[in-house]
Amino acid sequence: MQLLCPVSWPDYQLLDCGNGEKLEKFGSYVIIRPEPKALWAKTETTEQWLRQAHIRFIQGAGFGKAGKEDSGTWEKLQKVPDRWNIQYKKLFKLRLGLTAFKHVGVFPEQAPNWDFIYRKVREVKEQAPGSTPRVLNLFAYTGAASLAARAAGAEVAHLDAVRQVITWSRENMELSGMNGIRWILEDAFKFVKREVRRGNTYQGIILDPPAYGHGPDGEKWKLDDCLFSLLQECSRILAGNNAFVVLSLYSNGYSALLADSLARECFSKNGDYAFGELFLKDQYGKRLPLSVFSRLELK
Ligand SMILES: C[S@@+](CC[C@H](N)C(=O)[O-])C[C@H]1O[C@@H](n2cnc3c(N)ncnc32)[C@H](O)[C@@H]1O
Repeated sequence: MQLLCPVSWPDYQLLDCGNGEKLEKFGSYVIIRPEPKALWAKTETTEQWLRQAHIRFIQGAGFGKAGKEDSGTWEKLQKVPDRWNIQYKKLFKLRLGLTAFKHVGVFPEQAPNWDFIYRKVREVKEQAPGSTPRVLNLFAYTGAASLAARAAGAEVAHLDAVRQVITWSRENMELSGMNGIRWILEDAFKFVKREVRRGNTYQGIILDPPAYGHGPDGEKWKLDDCLFSLLQECSRILAGNNAFVVLSLYSNGYSALLADSLARECFSKNGDYAFGELFLKDQYGKRLPLSVFSRLELK
């Protein structure tokens, strides 16, 4: 079991967390957001947090669908633009922005997965000189994992069900000085089934599915009911060797061992499997677990 957190990332820092909130720095701006998993007490006082913060998310107030978990409004405490950029290592840039659901366009705890994806694409290329690995990113959101794969030289298919996040991902690609990512606005399951029928294969498959979702034509996604079948279909489009899978799960309280068992049941018995938790560490050393992962490497 591996416990992984971002390293060497000057543009992101978890400053403190506790009392159901986190204090984070993204580039030059400090944000206070709700964090249900921060069950302990924060180290600094509320006054200290408010002195540093540029923006605070107030849950349940203002815009967002009424009654929808995570909806609320942003209160600006100091001058701050609606959009700003951050850099991830020498690999890519991300445009951040304030959304109605407390998110800013990046899940920082995913950074160890981006490093893994970058390393694996390089390895796959070295194993098959002259070839271009094909990577499929499902539930791809604003595209950080797609950019990691592209930066390493993969041909990337980036799929999400929401047009606005695909547009946002394209902006991130252009901001990072890259091109050539294939954008797919579709239901993840429907697309994978079609790829099975077409006989297309990928050297890398990345999935970060939510608890509930909808395809663009209203197709229902429910993690508990759909995940096992989706992974089984994914196993049919994964190349037989020199390939990798990254599955991350952040909802329903799923454990890392569950992610590992699922992956082992669906993919080749001959692979190297690893699993663990992704966490953020604040400047006082408190560790905030946010996601679990399973990774498969086929030699
Ligand atoms: C929270 S995000 C995943 C985070 C992302 N992998 C990252 O680290 O940046 C979940 C994404 O799944 C997408 N989604 C939800 N239901 C979907 C479906 N049926 N097919 C494809 N994408 C879907 C959402 O639009 C959202 O962008």
